Amino acid sequence: MPRYALNINGQTRQAEVDADTPLLWVLRDELQLSGTKYGCGKGLCGACTVHVDGQAQRSCQLPVSALGSKRVTTIEGLHPQGLHPLQQAWIRLDVAQCGYCQCGQIMQAAALLKAKPKPTDAEIDSAMAGNLCRCGTHLRIRAAIKLVARGEGA
Ligand code: FES
Ligand code: FES
Repeated sequence: MPRYALNINGQTRQAEVDADTPLLWVLRDELQLSGTKYGCGKGLCGACTVHVDGQAQRSCQLPVSALGSKRVTTIEGLHPQGLHPLQQAWIRLDVAQCGYCQCGQIMQAAALLKAKPKPTDAEIDSAMAGNLCRCGTHLRIRAAIKLVARGEGA
């Protein structure tokens, strides 16, 4: 099997896997970074969202061989203490219910706020539309994003 040197959360991590292995499974099974979740495996739910060179990407759809030296950030690398303003806002507004989708939601929201620090409601809804939550936490997610956009997340 080929060996890959991957740039994950600012570190070089090695993985010996088939070339078509999705990044999601490299993260979870090879590197024990289990914050990134499997939902659908088809790019439809957003549970597996990570950042690749700062862009939100579905890791279930990214073969490891396509990454090269691109920078991958997972929920574990978003903030060294887990206290990114979005994570603080999530706690403050008690956003999570079962929690399964939430790492993907936060990664999607973090990419949105990086690109657009003060998004409109429509921009939030559009950016978050592909991140599903079976527990129906979407309204609290939007409120938490708005809190951070107003500079009140922390
Ligand atoms: S598991 Fe990747 S989008 Fe659903
Ligand atoms: S909090 Fe349960 S699926 Fe979103």
